[in-house]
Parts: sequence; C-alpha cells; structure tokens
Amino acid sequence: SNRLLSTSKVLQKQVQNVTIIGAGLMGSGIAQVSAQSKLNVVLVDQNDAALQKATKGIHSSLARVAKKKFAEDAAAQNKFVEGTTKYIKTTTNINEGVKDADLVIEAIVENIDVKRKLFAELEKNVKSDAILTTNTSSLKLSDIGLNLKNKQNFGGLHFFNPVPMMKLLEVVRHAETSDDTFKTLNDYGKAIGKTTVACKDTPGFIVNRLLVPYMFEALRMVERGDATMEDVDIAMKLGAGYPMGPFELTDYVGLDTSKFIMDGWHKAYPNEPLFKPSDLLSKKVAEGKLGRKSGEGFYKYTK
Ligand code: NAI
Repeated sequence: SNRLLSTSKVLQKQVQNVTIIGAGLMGSGIAQVSAQSKLNVVLVDQNDAALQKATKGIHSSLARVAKKKFAEDAAAQNKFVEGTTKYIKTTTNINEGVKDADLVIEAIVENIDVKRKLFAELEKNVKSDAILTTNTSSLKLSDIGLNLKNKQNFGGLHFFNPVPMMKLLEVVRHAETSDDTFKTLNDYGKAIGKTTVACKDTPGFIVNRLLVPYMFEALRMVERGDATMEDVDIAMKLGAGYPMGPFELTDYVGLDTSKFIMDGWHKAYPNEPLFKPSDLLSKKVAEGKLGRKSGEGFYKYTK
C-alpha cells in the first residue's frame, strides 16, 4: 500500500503554468490571484485592447494590495507589484498561449456556441494531460464540453466577483471528470488561497442556485404589491444580516446578466416554478436600466 501511495503521489498533477482565456472582469482577477501565488500565468484575449485594460487593472489592484501589506514601505510595495506582474504574460494568440499550460481556465463571453467552439480548438493545442476548465455561471459543463474527446480532464472553476476579495471557489465536476482532475483543481484552489466547495454539474452550482431564485422571489413579492423594494432591501439587511438587499444585489450583478441566467434555466427546466422569469425585470432591461454599470437599475447611481 506504501507503493500505491507513492505512485499516486507521482501521478498527481501539479499546476505550475496557468493559461486564462478571456481578459475581462473575471479573467484579470483570476490572473492576478494566480500570479500572487507565483504560478506562471498566460492571459489570452482575442482583443488586444482588453489585454491592455486588464494589465492596467491588475497593476492598480496589486498596488492596493501592496499598500495594505507594506503600509509605510514604498520600496517593498514596488517590489511586490513588479515581482507579481513578472509572472503574467499576455497574448492574442490562443494556440500559442495554451501550449505549455497545465491548467486552462476559460472566462470568455457566456455563450454556449462560442465556448464549445473554443474548447474544441483548445483540445487540439494543449498538452495531452492539461486540465481544461470553465468559469461559467449558468451553462452546463456537459454542454460546453460536449465535443471534447478527453472529458476526464475537464471540470469547472467558478470564481466570484471581485476575484481577489472573494474567498470562495466552487470546484465543479461533471459526470466524467476524473478523481485526479478534481483533486488537482482543489489543490490549485487552495494554492491561490481560496476555500473550495465541491459542486456537481447542476444549474447555478451552490451559490447561484440559491441566490438567483431568492432574487426573483423578491421581484415577485414587489410585483404582487406585498412590499416595496426599499422595504425588502432593508428587511434582508437588518433581519437576515445580508450585506446587500436583493434589489441592491441585482443592481450590482447587472439586471441583464440576472435575466440571461434565469431565461437559460427557464428554457432548460420549463416546469420549475423557481426559474420563472419576471416581467418587472424584463421591462427594466428593455428600458436599458441594467444596474450600477448603466447608472440605473432598481436604484439610480451617480458615477
Ligand atoms: P467580460 O465581458 O468582462 O470579459 C470577457 C472577455 O472575453 C472579453 O475581454 C472578450 O474580449 C473575451 N473574449 C470573448 N470571446 C473570446 C474568445 N472567443 N476568445 C478569446 N477571448 C474572448 O466577462 P466576465 O464578466 O469576465 O465573464 C466571463 C465569464 O465568467 C462568463 O462565462 C461569466 O458567466 C463568468 N462569470 C462571471 C461572473 C461575474 O460576476 N461577472 C462571476 C462568475 C463567473
């Protein structure tokens, strides 16, 4: 049994090179936390402007971390920022960007066709034992990975926004994810300082499966005229101890994003009453009231 143990140790993959595809809000955060843990990061985007914006964003986010870490010491702050950014390379060439990766994390647009196409392409260009993962919030892994030949090396890493602040990482295994892959993904999560929870390939995993129907139930409560939206937000903050009420939270997440998630789930599970769309939300989205990012959602925001 000792020999078995040491054999499994040798077989256990170690993640050293991480390639992140999609340098938006999530991808840049994932790149930052991976680099902070001294992993070699390649950040890929089809759009060079996105890479430049991400590089700038990571730099200022690291500067904030450094200020907290090394309060009075400007030289130490500098060393931390430069030392960390050194671990991040960027490229618009996806095939080039993934060729040395032990782990690929996909964080591109939430569109099933675009993701499927990307994964088919990825599989042709990565090392045979590379692990491929998606950061999807609302799509099924079994759909995204439908055309993959090696489904054992495929799983989910669902991060939370803002990635450097939020402690949780949902590690998702679909029916064919191997134990070895699942373990490596958990080890990666711990290496970057996250607390991991194990999820199956079900809509919304743990957090969004509970949170999104709760947000929609709040909408229905207001639609019925049972309470005002202001009172619902006050009630959940002071009565349940939540940091934001459900309407403030929907403004933060984006009304369009919330609608997109629910529409997808409703289509896949038409008989699930918890996944019923909301007229109030659809009306706001049609009016271009998307939440904080557009200056108005359920509340008005001044920039
Ligand atoms: P974003 O719109 O900020 O960034 C997406 C980036 O991907 C853009 O820079 C775009 O140029 C790039 N991109 C699009 N298609 C590409 C392709 N085929 N190849 C290479 N690059 C491509 O999006 P965000 O918010 O970062 O979301 C990314 C993913 O993470 C989505 O699947 C989303 O559902 C998921 N997610 C989002 C969360 C959030 O709070 N925003 C939370 C957890 C997961």
